[in-house]
Amino acid sequence: KKRVVSGVQPTGSVHLGNYLGAIKNWVALQDTYETLFIIVDHHAATTDTAALYLACGIDVSKASVFVQSHVPAHVELMWLLCSSTPIGWLQKMIQFKEKSRKEGVENASVGLFTYPDLMTADILLYQSDFVPVGEDQKQHIELAREIAQRVNHLYGGKKWKKLGGRGGSLFKIPEPLIPQAGARVMSLTDGLSKMSKSAPSDQSRINLLDSKDLIVDKIKRCKTDSFAGLEFDNAERPECNNLLSIYQIVSGKKKEEVMEECKDMSWGTFKPLLADALIEHLSPIQARYQEIIAEPEYLDKILSEGADRAEELGAVTMRNMYQAMGYYQRR
Ligand code: TYM
Repeated sequence: KKRVVSGVQPTGSVHLGNYLGAIKNWVALQDTYETLFIIVDHHAATTDTAALYLACGIDVSKASVFVQSHVPAHVELMWLLCSSTPIGWLQKMIQFKEKSRKEGVENASVGLFTYPDLMTADILLYQSDFVPVGEDQKQHIELAREIAQRVNHLYGGKKWKKLGGRGGSLFKIPEPLIPQAGARVMSLTDGLSKMSKSAPSDQSRINLLDSKDLIVDKIKRCKTDSFAGLEFDNAERPECNNLLSIYQIVSGKKKEEVMEECKDMSWGTFKPLLADALIEHLSPIQARYQEIIAEPEYLDKILSEGADRAEELGAVTMRNMYQAMGYYQRR
């Protein structure tokens, strides 16, 4: 079976961007592929995020769900990959540039700088074929592809064979899966910046666990414009495009249907419609979430089984990497 790997960092709450850009799209993949969904951190919100994966429809009878730090091979592989990563490649990463802007590159941590190598390890450890993510992770996946190719070239093939290996590639080259709609959900307060966990104003995002009242309130106060009617893809109306797109996905309608339905609407008519569609879509997720967190032992068991499976799959890659890079093996 082909493999799919993806994950969310559990810092802050999971929001609509994470859901529409990533988690929602994982659900359809679990029937066809071997899927591994990682909670990528050591943070306290880890179990919340795990519960949300399940509440959004990840089915542990098909998929493996686990916590990154429970599988030490991620960090081990990262270290091996670091030696094949030119500093210049990491210096080009947009996420690093953005996150280090405030404190300055000189003061940013080495961990933040080398984070893309850890993400690359998350992906390559499992020989992933596909990585379902939002648009903002495209550059990191591109980096993972380049690192995989470089390692294959430096250590794979004949050189590996000489060291007793099977030869050939050490890594599959993973491909990003970026959704048609939802790949870049924008902020509710500024249609030109993406919805993000780190934006200071909570008004800028819909969190998956926001109450009905809060959703109504956030939509009521979200930024709009003063054009007549509503339309997609008008560059002068980023907020309009964003809100229509959100409506399209959560209502399950086709783009053409939404265009037809909303073309003559005022914001006053559209906003309650959007709020209702969001609530209708998120309510079952929230109800399942409550059920899941009521049983912490169940969640622990799921995460433990997920880590077992991940360890088993990752061990093959680690053995090959140590061998191909000429490490002395323990006997
Ligand atoms: P993170 O935690 O920032 O986001 C998790 C997922 O949500 C997507 N996303 C969005 N999609 C659409 N619109 C938005 N406004 C929006 N904001 C976030 C992200 O693209 C991502 O798919 N480094 C990654 C997590 C990671 C990972 C991995 C992903 C670690 N290891 C291995 C895939 C495979 C990150 O920080 O995503």
